[in-house]
Amino acid sequence: MKERIEELINLAHKKISEAFSGKLLNDVKVEFLGKNGSVTSLMKGMRDVAPEDRPKFGQLVNELRAKIEKAIADKEAELKEKELAEKLKAEAVDVTLPGKFSEEGTLHPITLVKNQFIDAFQGLGFEVFEGPEIELDKINFQMLNIPEDHPARDMQDTFYITDSILLRTHTSPGQVRVMTSRKPPIKVMCPGRVYRSDDDATHSPIFHQIEGLVVDKNVSLCDLKGSLETILRKVFDSDDIVTRLRPSYFPFTEPSVEIDVSCFECGGKGCKLCKGTGWIEVLGGGMVNRNVLAMCGIDPDVYSGYAFGIGLERTAMLKYHIPDIRMLFDNDLRFTKQFK
Ligand code: PHE
Repeated sequence: MKERIEELINLAHKKISEAFSGKLLNDVKVEFLGKNGSVTSLMKGMRDVAPEDRPKFGQLVNELRAKIEKAIADKEAELKEKELAEKLKAEAVDVTLPGKFSEEGTLHPITLVKNQFIDAFQGLGFEVFEGPEIELDKINFQMLNIPEDHPARDMQDTFYITDSILLRTHTSPGQVRVMTSRKPPIKVMCPGRVYRSDDDATHSPIFHQIEGLVVDKNVSLCDLKGSLETILRKVFDSDDIVTRLRPSYFPFTEPSVEIDVSCFECGGKGCKLCKGTGWIEVLGGGMVNRNVLAMCGIDPDVYSGYAFGIGLERTAMLKYHIPDIRMLFDNDLRFTKQFK
């Protein structure tokens, strides 16, 4: 009997030491200690042992079982430790390796200028209103006092989609959309992309404008001048900026003005940027034409309003000294990354 036990313990030790995974170790456990395992069946052989030898036999088998259990538990701990060590090794981080850089992006100069305008407008209580880029002829032209076949249409070379649908040529249709859907007091800005069949160093077929519109009782050209100066001082980052209004013509404003800013480069003395004049032409505006107010359902005897439209490309070119408008659309990262 002793030999049989000896044999089993040696065999168990051999198999345990050979088990190199948790699964194999479990197989060994079942083989020796399981319901039909060799140690369990040894115990079942108790009835063939002489009664006086049974206590001794039982003790020996129990010792055997305990030894095997301990050996298995030790091996289990060893395997776990090994597994952990391997995992740590596989996940090790080499802190001496160079890091992975994610490059910091920059905003496009047009977006920068647009955001600067929106900030400045918001400071004066203007809300953002955005209309569609594909617009009705009626809203882009007719309701802005530019009837069909009127020569004033030549001011804006237009991309027509059908006879009555076009790519908006300016952000002024935003005025119509706001005035026909809201009651005064109105104070909005309409930033957006606009389209004209135009292409050279200072004109692009796609460009951006931001429109300002204020309609209320007793609004005057003085309000336009005052608000614009506040906005332009912020955008061009100079508290000394003043504006100058020159008579102009737009069918949707009366009177209409061309608005110049004092040169923010030379302070008005005359330099290359202002071509020696001390003034830079930046935008058009005026008092909303009575016909336009009336067509939009607003009584021109009660309300008045001012409107103006600024080109974002032109502003960006002036502010950042960009010589050719096409640079803004080439998407050359060496160019666009320079503006922060
Ligand atoms: N819409 C005009 C343009 O694009 C600018 C403008 C806006 C003029 C508002 C007057 C009032 O040229």
